[in-house]
Amino acid sequence: MRLLFLGDIVGRSGREAVLEGMAEWRRKLALDLVVANAENASHGYGLSPQIARDLLGGGIDVLTLGNHAWDRRDMVSQIEQFPRIVRPINYPAGTPGQGSCLVHLPNGHKALVINVMGRIFMDPLDDPFRTVSEVLQRYRLGVTVQAIILDVHAEATSEKMGMGQFFDGHVSLVVGTHTHVPTSDHRILPHGTAYQTDAGMCGDYNSIIGMDIQAGLGRLLKKIPSERPQPAQGEATVSGLVVETDDATGLAIRVSPLRVGGYLVGCFPGF
Ligand SMILES: [Fe+2]
Ligand SMILES: [Fe+2]
Repeated sequence: MRLLFLGDIVGRSGREAVLEGMAEWRRKLALDLVVANAENASHGYGLSPQIARDLLGGGIDVLTLGNHAWDRRDMVSQIEQFPRIVRPINYPAGTPGQGSCLVHLPNGHKALVINVMGRIFMDPLDDPFRTVSEVLQRYRLGVTVQAIILDVHAEATSEKMGMGQFFDGHVSLVVGTHTHVPTSDHRILPHGTAYQTDAGMCGDYNSIIGMDIQAGLGRLLKKIPSERPQPAQGEATVSGLVVETDDATGLAIRVSPLRVGGYLVGCFPGF
C-alpha cells in the first residue's frame, strides 16, 4: 500500500496548495490512502464542517485533529456526521467524535488511522500509550487491517520518539504533528514501522509556524496579549511523508519526505 501523510494544513494557502496538487500526487505516486492533519485548516484555528467537506472531497481520505480540534465550535456539534475525521483518542470519555477510523479501500484492503495527543507541554489527557494500545488490541496488522497510521500530535520530540519506539512493529507508521516544522529523521524503525518525529506543516513557512510574523513577534517581544495571529498568506509548502507498506505484514518498506512549493527546499519521492 502507498500512503501519503500530510502535516498540519494551515489556513487558506495551505488548503489551496494541498487541493491543487492532490490529484497529481495521487496519480504519480499511485497512492492508496491520503491522511492529513487539519487542526489549523480554518484560518489557523480548527476545522469547519465546510472546509472538512472541501478537503475530504478533494482527495484526502481521512482528516486528523489535535489541540485545536474544537476551535471551531460548529465542529463540536457536527463531528459525529464525519466518519472520516479523527480527533485525539485520549480525550475524556464522552467527548464527541472518534479517536480512530477504519477505512475500507476500493481494493478491499483496510487501513486504521489513529490520532493521539501528547501530554508533555500540553493539556493533561489520558495516557497516550495506554489508549492507543487499547484500540490496537482490536486489530491485527497484516491480518485484519493492511495498514495502521498513528498521528502523534505532540510538542516534545522525546514523547513522539517514545511513541515510535513503543509501537514499532505494531503499526505501519508513527508520525508526529503539531510543531509545524518538519524533522529530517524519517526512517524505518528496527521492527518495521515507518517513523518521522514531525511531518511539518502545509502552510506558508515565511511566517512563525504558519502565522503572521509581526503578530507572532509582538507576542514574543512584548509579552502583551495581542489579537490572535492570522495565518500568513504567502505560498505554502506542502510537507508530508510517503510510505510504502507490505500488505502481507502491514510494515513499511520505503519512506520518503514530500515537500512541494513555497519556501522549503523541495523533495519528491523517487518511487
Ligand atoms: Fe497545528
Ligand atoms: Fe497542534
